[in-house]
Amino acid sequence: MIRRYAALLVAMLLPVVAVAQPNTPDVPYVTTPWNVVETMLEMAQVTAGDNLIDLGSGDGRIVIEAVKKRGARGTGIELNPHLVKIALEEAKRQGVTEKAKFLEGNLFDFDLRGASVLTMYLFPQINIRLRPRLFEQLKPGTRVVSHDFHMDEWRPDMQREVPVPGKSYGPPKSTLYMWVMPVNAAGVWRWRLPLNNTPVAFEATVMQRFQKPEITVTADGVKAAVSELQLRGDEIRFRLLHSPSATLEFSARISGDEAAGTVKRAGEDAATDWKATRTERGKIRLD
Ligand SMILES: C[S@@+](CC[C@H](N)C(=O)[O-])C[C@H]1O[C@@H](n2cnc3c(N)ncnc32)[C@H](O)[C@@H]1O
Repeated sequence: MIRRYAALLVAMLLPVVAVAQPNTPDVPYVTTPWNVVETMLEMAQVTAGDNLIDLGSGDGRIVIEAVKKRGARGTGIELNPHLVKIALEEAKRQGVTEKAKFLEGNLFDFDLRGASVLTMYLFPQINIRLRPRLFEQLKPGTRVVSHDFHMDEWRPDMQREVPVPGKSYGPPKSTLYMWVMPVNAAGVWRWRLPLNNTPVAFEATVMQRFQKPEITVTADGVKAAVSELQLRGDEIRFRLLHSPSATLEFSARISGDEAAGTVKRAGEDAATDWKATRTERGKIRLD
């Protein structure tokens, strides 16, 4: 990885001025090959309901393809005014200016709150600098897709390789990484549930690092085993072994300090409504 990255720096940084200037790009201009663009849009399952933001949009190809092929809206943020002009001209030529916007500016200054899909072909250190802003600004469920460069300890939810014959650096392929922004589920949650006609008080303590939660649950003060815990976007699921005869399956959507969904006994179809309330809010660990 380090060798590949070094080779990329040599191949791409030669024309860049050595002393950092306010308008010096953090990453040089290299286009994403068309087959890789298609795979990025496919991984993010971009549809007409999406608003895609491409950070460092170059000639605008990712935004324009998202609009043309998937009916999405999109915005490209680009530092280089010449590339912004090229992207605007191409959007006009393809008749997509209604939905494809291109703005000149620094990607670090742009508010990302409106995005439902974020794409990037930047360096790992830029991705890592962006990480706290992604967790601060992006809604749960937003898909983040990065071409070739990872986010270090923040492991992707999905990874794919795409052949790129004649690639200008490294092996003839691109690696794509996708993350789904998680809701903040961290903290202490409480709920009550009648089991065998007896009300039981549950308490769950959730710790969360990036999109990965860990959970400890007690039922009337007694620890209960949890398995198959999953958090994706704002949806949480887990199984709880309450007694040798009762495994309960919980699933809910988290909004603010409320989790609302259903609970059912494993192996049975009938589910009942379930609600939990967060009584102490925790923080997502981003290190
Ligand atoms: C590797 S290219 C990717 C272009 C396009 N997204 C693609 O995949 O084809 C990175 C782009 O980011 C732009 N860029 C670099 N630093 C930037 C910054 N701080 N703010 C906005 N754009 C930046 C560069 O000018 C370049 O066009």
